[in-house]
Amino acid sequence: MRKLWTMALLLALGTRLHAQEQRFPVIPYPQQLVPGTGEFVITKDTRLVLPAHAGRYSNETAQLQSLIRQGLGYSLKVAAKAPAANVIILRLNDALAGEEAYTMQVNPQQLIISAKGAAGFFRAVETLRQLMPPFTEGSAGGHVTAVNIPAMDLKDQPAYAWRGMHLDVSRHFFSIDYLKKFIDLLALYKMNKLHLHLTDDQGWRIEIKKYPLLTQQGAWRTFNNQDSVCMQQAKNNPDMAIDTAHIIHKNGKTLYGGFYTQAQMRDLIAFAAARHVEIIPEIDMPGHMMAAIRAYPYLSCSGESGWGKDFSTPICPCNEATYKFAEDVFSEIAALFPSEYIHLGADEVEKTSWAKSPLCATVMQQNNLKSVEELQSYFVKRMEKFFHSKGKRLIGWDEILEGGISETALLMYWRSWVPDAPVKAARHGNKVIMTPGNPLYFDGVPDRNSLSNVYHFNPIPKGLTAEEAAHIMGAQANIWTEWIPSEKRADYMFMPRMTALSEVLWTNRQDYGDYLQRLNEHYARLDQLGVHYRLPDLDGFTEDNVFVEPVTLRVRKPLENLSIRYTTDGTIPVAASPVLPADYRISEPQTIKLAAFSPAGNRGDIYTLHYRKQSYAKPAGITPAVNGLQLDYFKGSFKTTRVIKAAPDTTVRVANIVIPEGLGPAGAAFGARLQGYIQAPETGIYSFFLTCDDGGMLYVGGHETVNNDGWHAPLQKSGQVALEKGWHPFRVDFVEGGGGYTLKLEYSVNGSPLQPVPDTWLKTK
Ligand code: ACM
Repeated sequence: MRKLWTMALLLALGTRLHAQEQRFPVIPYPQQLVPGTGEFVITKDTRLVLPAHAGRYSNETAQLQSLIRQGLGYSLKVAAKAPAANVIILRLNDALAGEEAYTMQVNPQQLIISAKGAAGFFRAVETLRQLMPPFTEGSAGGHVTAVNIPAMDLKDQPAYAWRGMHLDVSRHFFSIDYLKKFIDLLALYKMNKLHLHLTDDQGWRIEIKKYPLLTQQGAWRTFNNQDSVCMQQAKNNPDMAIDTAHIIHKNGKTLYGGFYTQAQMRDLIAFAAARHVEIIPEIDMPGHMMAAIRAYPYLSCSGESGWGKDFSTPICPCNEATYKFAEDVFSEIAALFPSEYIHLGADEVEKTSWAKSPLCATVMQQNNLKSVEELQSYFVKRMEKFFHSKGKRLIGWDEILEGGISETALLMYWRSWVPDAPVKAARHGNKVIMTPGNPLYFDGVPDRNSLSNVYHFNPIPKGLTAEEAAHIMGAQANIWTEWIPSEKRADYMFMPRMTALSEVLWTNRQDYGDYLQRLNEHYARLDQLGVHYRLPDLDGFTEDNVFVEPVTLRVRKPLENLSIRYTTDGTIPVAASPVLPADYRISEPQTIKLAAFSPAGNRGDIYTLHYRKQSYAKPAGITPAVNGLQLDYFKGSFKTTRVIKAAPDTTVRVANIVIPEGLGPAGAAFGARLQGYIQAPETGIYSFFLTCDDGGMLYVGGHETVNNDGWHAPLQKSGQVALEKGWHPFRVDFVEGGGGYTLKLEYSVNGSPLQPVPDTWLKTK
């Protein structure tokens, strides 16, 4: 039966495999793995030897048995004494470095797992899970009579203690069942923290027994303008439809929402704990509290709720009734969640209602507070003291630095445009969790660069000494759900991006090519688990194409088992659309929409390919002599490249498409224009790929070649231009809205791999 598993694997994976990937497709990759010879074969005759104090590890043993049962259809018999061969041994080893560390020695006779305790055993079980046939996931078992584990000597432990995912269940609500599926995926990839954003303006999601209106009223809303955007997008993408499971009809009204009872949350916490995932609750205050203020209007300074310039009216930090409410709420939260951490939020506070309040004027005077920022800090510090009285530590978003941070609070860094916030906090001695918007806000729609961006993320901010860097506990990706109305959309947004983050945080080793190869082995398991992940990208084309002679479109697919379907009538490709021929001939201008479909029916991103007929652009008729491009730098905030002002503030020369630091303040908004000439070494059709955050435009040979304009997260767009051999006018316009930018130009000719435009191709008169 070994053959059965091998056959299934080969069928599922096609012919791409070489031996190494096939043997150890583990993500995150273990810290040390020395492959051995042969395999350990688990069969019904394999015996299991439990560790000392076995009762303490019954959860982890049960999960190992369940894994084996999903394959073989039965659990292993437990032996008191290890036989000489065909045995799995669980062993305690106090000498291991940390609670999550484990080793695994596998040879044809034995499979020995050692760990210091439960967490290490659990991480080992998840490694084994990834080495088992994907089709056994969630099955009743009995499909195979043997499961082979490759021989190896493995030593593993995490690089970072905080390996987190966040989910906003307020803007859109997610069922307990979905949260369990989410937690199981965290566990599969050795992530260990789940930060639940339980409250916000758009809905209060956790039962608080002392304040029943928080959920009776605050958990429900009529559809808001974010819902309407989703509904609009659902016309082309069913994943954007509002989940009907969370819509109710009450007193003639249609309401959206939901909440978790404390009993449900207790059950979820236990489910997570069994998978060594800790749930950290966030009750966001003093801002983002509209749902609560509507239910209990006395919480705001004026008794009113509403929106200021950017954010909603906060609760009043100058009123003792507010503290009574907050302490009551956090007393229930502290009792419910066993985590040592509680997240207070404290981000994005609109403080004008405080500035206007006579009560706040008095409190500020009495406490010698000079600004409303200090008033916010007063609130946070008071809450922290209360958290300490409950044995809990406070986490806050990085705004808690403003107005003064305590010695003990943990800072969760998110504002990419305030790059020194984590540095300041670490130097101040505070622990820091890194969640910078770019690349860790997973509500940003993923594209073909997202995996690489996450994989190459360094959790340690620039400028810290090794000693200061020890304050960085790890990192976390955040999923804000204003525009994520369904479970399928949530899956798409975080998978497979989370697997890249897991390797950053557990292994802290960068081998992107190897990671991508291993990731390809995971899709079958994710299909089996019902995960609606984002399919890997198709290649071999640009979005905006030109042709001089008829051309052939040859799409490359990363997985053999994907089918590519297309339309030419402007409609979205569906599972019944025709399959794109391997060689698709184009002789007339047209627009092709294509998408990959997995065997499970999961649709990948839709690519729209425009084909325009063009003749080769004549060269400019000059030979520019000066290396590099002219860069004009424009101070100011421009929403698109079309509205960049006329006169540059600075003009410099650059060797390539780069914007040197120091032309303006770090993190500031600006516009830029890079211009000169580009060399086409041969007559041909050149494809350009412009990746930018925020907006950019590329003009070559007098043609608009790539339009990637407008403010957005890093996004790649591509286009083509037909060029005769010689020098052609070249220009990139770029706008950055503030907070750090990305600007990258690559090219390809005749389907060659993408490469940076070489310096020697760029000159000025
Ligand atoms: C946040 O994104 N407001 C923390």
